[in-house]
Amino acid sequence: MNFRIFIPRDAGAIAVGADDVTLALTQAAASRGVAVDFVRTGSRGLYWLEPMVEVATPRGRVAFGPMTPADAASVLDAMVTDGPHPLRLGIAAEIPWLRRQTRVTFARCGVVDPRSIDDFRARQGYKGLERALTLTSDEILADVTASGLRGRGGAGFPTGIKWKTVAQTAADRKYIVCNADEGDSGTFADRMIMEGDPFVVIEGMTIAGITVGATRGYIYIRSEYPHAVIAMNAAIQAAKRAGYLGERIGGSAHHFDLEVRVGAGAYVCGEETALLESLEGRRGIVRAKPPLPAHKGLFGRPTVINNVLSFAAIPFILAGGAKAYAGYGSDRSRGTMPIQLAGNVRHGGLFEAPFGITLGELVDDIGGGTLSGRPVRAVQVGGPLGAYFPRALFDTPFDYEAFAARDGLIGHGGIVVFDDSVDMSKQARFAMEFCAVESCGKCTPCRIGSTRGVETLDRIRAGDRVAENIGVVEDLCNTMKFGSLCALGGFTPYPVMSALKHFREDFGPAPTRLEAAE
Ligand SMILES: Cc1cc2nc3c(=O)[nH]c(=O)nc-3n(C[C@H](O)[C@H](O)[C@H](O)COP(=O)(O)O)c2cc1C
Ligand code: SF4
Repeated sequence: MNFRIFIPRDAGAIAVGADDVTLALTQAAASRGVAVDFVRTGSRGLYWLEPMVEVATPRGRVAFGPMTPADAASVLDAMVTDGPHPLRLGIAAEIPWLRRQTRVTFARCGVVDPRSIDDFRARQGYKGLERALTLTSDEILADVTASGLRGRGGAGFPTGIKWKTVAQTAADRKYIVCNADEGDSGTFADRMIMEGDPFVVIEGMTIAGITVGATRGYIYIRSEYPHAVIAMNAAIQAAKRAGYLGERIGGSAHHFDLEVRVGAGAYVCGEETALLESLEGRRGIVRAKPPLPAHKGLFGRPTVINNVLSFAAIPFILAGGAKAYAGYGSDRSRGTMPIQLAGNVRHGGLFEAPFGITLGELVDDIGGGTLSGRPVRAVQVGGPLGAYFPRALFDTPFDYEAFAARDGLIGHGGIVVFDDSVDMSKQARFAMEFCAVESCGKCTPCRIGSTRGVETLDRIRAGDRVAENIGVVEDLCNTMKFGSLCALGGFTPYPVMSALKHFREDFGPAPTRLEAAE
């Protein structure tokens, strides 16, 4: 009997040597005459343990990590003898960091073979679509609405309402667009699921298509994600061959086709209307709303545009899980959120949990504090447009409303951790600089305001009329917040104002906190 060894083909795992480990294990197996079948999976999201390699045993998959090529021979021996090894982590599914999670969207990620539609189907794959094909559009909409699912791209708009609007808008053609531009700092969940369980995204988009009457869909993936592009293209071809995409899906009267489009690298192209411009072959510039994409989107037709994670949550909901999904979470934030821990954090990775877990629990307990071992001073939640929270706000529950109530946002669920060596005036400047670089240029508060913001923060940092210039920054932030056309200019004030509010000591003219400590 061949040994079955599972190694991630996830870009994050490859970055730390998963391909080299695969080669070394292949060579070790050949030299020992051990027959091995290698399965390249996605990552389970415990990135500090990557490359994490698993071997199938009658008790479940036993994990080893983090591995280097030099460990290959001894790890293979331990796999063959089922013996001890310093890198042995035990049964993968029982690693406490995984057991504490509620894996709904990511249930298969790191487990399933992302290139095998049969493996996907053997693990509940396409159950949601199969049920959806027996329902009317209204019945599907009722399920999506009942689940309480809100868009995971950042704005948190109810998915059921969006789909209903498109379903009720008459047109000769409609489109489904998957937003896989994932530009937020510290986020990687879209990439992980596309690489680790691509069929779930396809299934979710197909359900959207049959619900609203769209026959064509596009997945817009950022160019920095070549592995995700390969994984999605391979899955689309496999789904076509198996009759799950194209004409008469699953033997029904529905048609639905999908294509991957690769972006050219602009943060603003994640904004839905700029993304549509880009998909149509133009420069990614934000469109004024109305009309909403749901009424007039891609090529002027009604379009459902959702984040990867929003689509990936749909199959579970349609497979009969609407009530179960809504049963997770807190208040108006229903379901689970794939939270991404990044930056200066000991246990960086993907942690899927129901809404409501506190920020402190995520950072201190699950994240294990900083990698540097120094105290956590700040975390930025929700990408480059998210607020910086100090320890004093670590009791904030991770949900849309609780963060908004404290002038923050959860965005796409990214948490970037900083230790006490961070200079928050530098971070505030960076926010303005980021906005200046990434601005599409359509509206003045963002295009000009961000550059004036950089200049003013430079003056503050140089100790030039600090109080007066802080007043200027506050004015500027107000103008950007209320006068910008989209959230790039409109939300840049969040990191800037939160840095000023919670870390005022880092803005001159008095010596900065660190200088004072020297
Ligand atoms: C500057 C900017 C960048 C954005 N980037 C992304 C992104 O990378 N991915 C994403 O899904 N949504 C992004 N959004 C949000 C989208 O405009 C849109 O709300 C989302 O794709 C809708 O899908 P959802 O309802 O499933 O969240 C961005 C918004 C702004 C203003
Ligand atoms: S806020 Fe910035 S990115 Fe958004 S439309 Fe205005 S100039 Fe473009």
